[in-house]
Amino acid sequence: MGQNVAVLGTQWGDEGKGKIVDLLCESFDVVARYQGGHNAGHTVKFGDKHFALRLIPSGILHANKLCLLGYGMVIDPAALLEEIEKLRALGVTIESNLKISDSAHVILPYHKALDIAREEAAGTAKIGTTGRGIGPAYESKVGRYGIRVADLLDAEVLRAKIEFTCAERNAVLGSVYKKETFDPKQLFEMYVAFGQQLADRITSGTLLINEQIRAGRSVMFEGAQGTMLDIDHGTYPFVTSSNTVVGGICTGLGVAPKHIHKVIGVVKAYTTRVGAGAFPTELENEMGEHLRRRGNEFGTVTGRPRRTGWLDLAVLRTCAMLNGVDEIAITKLDVLDELDEIPVCVGYKVRGATWNTFPAFAVAHHDYEPEYRTFKGWKTSTAGITSYDDLPPQAKDYVQFIEEQTETKASIISTGPRREETILR
Ligand code: GDP
Ligand code: IMO
Ligand code: MG
Repeated sequence: MGQNVAVLGTQWGDEGKGKIVDLLCESFDVVARYQGGHNAGHTVKFGDKHFALRLIPSGILHANKLCLLGYGMVIDPAALLEEIEKLRALGVTIESNLKISDSAHVILPYHKALDIAREEAAGTAKIGTTGRGIGPAYESKVGRYGIRVADLLDAEVLRAKIEFTCAERNAVLGSVYKKETFDPKQLFEMYVAFGQQLADRITSGTLLINEQIRAGRSVMFEGAQGTMLDIDHGTYPFVTSSNTVVGGICTGLGVAPKHIHKVIGVVKAYTTRVGAGAFPTELENEMGEHLRRRGNEFGTVTGRPRRTGWLDLAVLRTCAMLNGVDEIAITKLDVLDELDEIPVCVGYKVRGATWNTFPAFAVAHHDYEPEYRTFKGWKTSTAGITSYDDLPPQAKDYVQFIEEQTETKASIISTGPRREETILR
């Protein structure tokens, strides 16, 4: 039997999943995404190479890895084709190693337009989405009028579905939001052409991955976003529209739980979040600016500055519980190198009660009174360190505390963006 491992985000995304997936890739045969879309931006760096992946699993950068876009995803075909071209231009081979689930849902231009129009209309109550149409596309899916990848291959079905859904979306875009509407005929022609361009890659993803598992191949499940952005378990409504937690693998790929053998949670050594919503340990001061600058905390997809703050153990405990995290990969430890002191949130008071996990009901920032334990900084460079023994004692204390509090082992500690800059334990 192959060993199948999930790599997922433990915070609000951008934990460094791309780096960790790439690092571990060698031991796997298949890398599959199970949720999300091109709201994700996964960075991989090695040597002098730099890649930013959005829809395509990070495994694509390795020869002979089968990469699958699972049916729990929402796929914008234009974005996918663009990503394929960009990667090819960088010398990446994309042939039969990239497959797309036939029952994944498709993002259409009206989804994107609605996403943007709603955010505009919401004003200060906006979610701060990536504006890629993710939410409206999942809405179409759950509303049972979505268009699936397989529909791109059946012109008559596609025409009828686009005509029906476009008319309704146009009414909302035009009357409610006073925005431009879309011509269903044009959309049909565009999407039929996308179908032709992608036809060879479209397959039953569920059968494919289960055949691979049965044949003893090892699968890595690449999470997008993070646990606190999960539609059910995250900081609703400031979340994304998919299940980012481990259960999303079962529903988004058609893989039974018994085939998920290990869960690796990727933990940034501090916390970031893009978009609105509660962030109890946020630093809206010079220190927050320092973390943003040193950590280069600007969105891979949108270039937006990320909000920054201290590590939050209540978030990590929640994540460990929801996902059954076996091991953690701590990233960006080097970003903390210059600090005199490093506070870590150990829990909070929420409306007078003490919480060691993240209460799902509390949305507003002011609901939280974090309680901190402060660690001494190590004030020396850890950048590029590859051996645990070489870490300064204060950094080891920091790592050990995270391990204790999450009841997991930090099997990977990342000390720089590049593949080489990693401690494997
Ligand atoms: P993902 O969405 O979880 O894959 O994370 P992103 O790629 O969006 O953001 C993580 C950022 O941190 C990227 O720019 C990475 O190159 C960078 N990064 C990852 N690990 C480390 C690390 O250990 N140290 C530093 N300094 N940067 C890192
Ligand atoms: P990766 O995979 C960080 C956030 C958005 C917004 C909320 C909803 O790179 O970690 P959406 O466009 O999904 O409807 O936006 O979710 N968000 C992310 N934040 N990393 C991501 O992906 C994200 N994908 C979505 O900023 O707050
Ligand atoms: Mg990212």
